[in-house]
Amino acid sequence: MKTSELRESYLSFFEKNDHRRVPASSLIPRNDPTLLFTNSGMVQFKDPLLGKEDPGYKRATSAQSCVRAGGKHNDLENVGYTARHHTFFEMMGNFSFGDYFKEETISWAWEFIKEVMDLPTEKLWITVHPDDDQSRKIWLKKIGIKPDRIIDIKENFWTMGETGPCGPNTEIFYDHGEQIFGGPPGSPDEDGDRFVEFWNLVFPQYDLSADGSLSDLPQFGVDTGMGLERAAAIMQGVKSNYEIDLFSSLMTAAGKYAGLNDRQEILSAPSLRVIADHIRSSVFLIADGVVPGNDGASYVLRRIIRRGLRHGYKLDINEPFFHQLAEVVIEEMGSAYPTILEKRDNVAVILAQEEERFSETLRQGMELLKKEVEKVQGDQLPGDVAFKLYDTYGFPVDLTADVIREREMQVDMQEFETCMEEQRQRGRAVSSFTSTLGQKVTIKEAVDFNGYENTNAKTEVLSIFDLEGNEVEILEKEHKGIVVLKTTPFYAESGGQIGDSGVVKSSDGLFEVSDTQLSGDQHLHIGHMQSGSIKVSDKVTADIDDVKRKMVRSNHSATHLMHAALRKTLGPHVEQKGSMVSEEKLRFDFSHNEAITREEIDLIEEMVNSEIMQNTEVLTEMMPPEQAVDRGAMALFGEKYGDLARVLSMGNGYSVELCGGTHVQRTGDIGIFKVVNETGISAGTRRIEAVTGIAAIKEIRLNESYLEKSVQITKTPKQELASRISQLISDVKAKDKEIEVLNGKMIAGESLGLTDQIVDVAGIPFLASVITGDNKAMMKTLDDLRSKFSGSIIVLAQEGKGKISLVVGIDGGLSKSISAGDLLVQIGTIVGVKGGGPPHLARGGGAGDLTRFDDAIDQAKKWIEEQVL
Ligand code: SER
Repeated sequence: MKTSELRESYLSFFEKNDHRRVPASSLIPRNDPTLLFTNSGMVQFKDPLLGKEDPGYKRATSAQSCVRAGGKHNDLENVGYTARHHTFFEMMGNFSFGDYFKEETISWAWEFIKEVMDLPTEKLWITVHPDDDQSRKIWLKKIGIKPDRIIDIKENFWTMGETGPCGPNTEIFYDHGEQIFGGPPGSPDEDGDRFVEFWNLVFPQYDLSADGSLSDLPQFGVDTGMGLERAAAIMQGVKSNYEIDLFSSLMTAAGKYAGLNDRQEILSAPSLRVIADHIRSSVFLIADGVVPGNDGASYVLRRIIRRGLRHGYKLDINEPFFHQLAEVVIEEMGSAYPTILEKRDNVAVILAQEEERFSETLRQGMELLKKEVEKVQGDQLPGDVAFKLYDTYGFPVDLTADVIREREMQVDMQEFETCMEEQRQRGRAVSSFTSTLGQKVTIKEAVDFNGYENTNAKTEVLSIFDLEGNEVEILEKEHKGIVVLKTTPFYAESGGQIGDSGVVKSSDGLFEVSDTQLSGDQHLHIGHMQSGSIKVSDKVTADIDDVKRKMVRSNHSATHLMHAALRKTLGPHVEQKGSMVSEEKLRFDFSHNEAITREEIDLIEEMVNSEIMQNTEVLTEMMPPEQAVDRGAMALFGEKYGDLARVLSMGNGYSVELCGGTHVQRTGDIGIFKVVNETGISAGTRRIEAVTGIAAIKEIRLNESYLEKSVQITKTPKQELASRISQLISDVKAKDKEIEVLNGKMIAGESLGLTDQIVDVAGIPFLASVITGDNKAMMKTLDDLRSKFSGSIIVLAQEGKGKISLVVGIDGGLSKSISAGDLLVQIGTIVGVKGGGPPHLARGGGAGDLTRFDDAIDQAKKWIEEQVL
């Protein structure tokens, strides 16, 4: 059974039992600050479970994408090391909000396991909470599980997070067989991969508060969760989740980058498992709006991506690979999760950027780590090494821990935390320092900024500070600090434009400036001494990184042109709400109530690019702000302007703005302008991100490569691609319909052909036959025959994938005297198949031997006669 079939069977099984099929919710829980990620199917039903919201239905079923990589449920450390853990996985579930309870839940679970999954009872183990006598009794008495297969586990009490609905749970385990290491639940080896929990039935009865107390819920609930990948591994007879069909093309694609083609080799590489898992999390998280960053969900995403890249490095993959795998995930899962299809481009761009950013330092960091590991005596890596890797090379500490775990070492976390705390304090010192610098030091001469016209200055050091804000005379090699210059070409971050970086050179020292910040009117050059030293009053030369400045300039001028184009296209209500201009891109937030359409974006791009092509001079004038506003200049929110304001005009009055930033000389210097993203960031505020120059060309190339790929796959010229794709989609739909009709006909035909095989056994219509087709077809045929012959006994067998399946159906009235389970045992002992079931329907399966079917049926007839006589 394919994973997609299992997903569908689950949903339709519960749908048939009056559950509402509800789509998966976002991985970022809506209005729930207590959770970082959606960690199970019940998250979107938290309020209905608590009785706080009436969703309009009492029973629900869903397939929910989940991430467990932070917070209470975190499987990150296990990924790659076991056959069954993921950071991203799918959970199938059925839920009741004050409707049915334990008896129905357990009975339906059992029916699904037996009728749909067709699992042999001897492979199953059950765990219950020691105090949950009700569930234990249902398993024992109603379902007929043997007492030695039911194990008490006191941890069987499920909570979503630190707060929320919770209650006792009962879990269903599958035994993958003795060739796999592991013991039954509760035994010392329970963490092995042999006994795998694949379905958890939770009965939320309480609400857990932040202080740890439990209060009764107004109603009882049901929350079940079946791990789709685990259940698929069982159905497909494989020992690891990574061997199921859903992972097959992903593992192969990842294997190719590592130069591995052999399936066994691919499956036994833990790093490929990590990559396959992590790319799935990354794709789904980005599609749900998370971008890699430095805190919260964003930092978890960054850690996952960087960990994936590190495992690529470990496999000697020397090319950008990670973002390319996103496409494989989207191909495989897009039909079940349309959001990833919609966000396809976004996912690729964001992943490619993060991959590029980290790949540069990954190699250097790994080399440093290798050297440091060799120096270690014992099994602890000093915390300051992990800190340096974090601070300089962007290695999240759990990534460092992951690397050295392979050498059975750990990070000295206490020392690492101390280093982190010191850094936080330095950060606090710098920010309080930058805001109070104006009061702390008296600078006799005003700082002279020459950076509008120049990229360098010959000047003098006015003062130096350490990062704690203490004034010092000298800064020596490798020390970090802040330098204030008499004249500076360095633009200090303001008005959304980032600060310049570059170098300050004294006669014997080189100070590398990583950022320039403003404090009062002072420009603070923040950085560290690369070599030599620098002293107060030293004669120095200051040079900015003019490649970076050039890109910043283009982006800043393009922001002005775009602002004007937005007002002309959308209306004068468009007002700037925020802006960020860096060397990579520009980001502009503005007031507007609805999403910008594709046509509007096209128009805005055209307007800006046409201004660029006119290549007009950019004019800067100083004038009183009122005069500027009279000229149509846009004065910005919350900005203070002095007596004389700087006014920027572009395109002969196309755009006039008050602005202190640095700009191109002529609009043509921008080169080309391209919007990459448009989103809403809060009610009434939209955000556009755009790129210029070479970055814009790269963006266009990237889009072209997507198009090229589709052209190659569909073998259709670009201009016909859209109609070809819609043609293909409607073809597939038509074929699906056709298949459905044919299947119906086949089954009807099959049962029609069988009707003349009906015989009389002790006065009962009896039919036994081996049929072709799969399990599903066999069940349909059985239904069909049963509806034709009332009061009958029907036995059908089918062989597929080296396995025999058997089903016995006995008419309801008759089943009181002859049980289908007993008859199945009679036949099964001869053909070598085991199974069971309720009196009217029994199913079995096994390796078996169908050449003995006729013998078995002869015996069965005799047995039936004996029962009746
Ligand atoms: N919430 C439970 C779990 O995640 C059952 O869905 O295991």
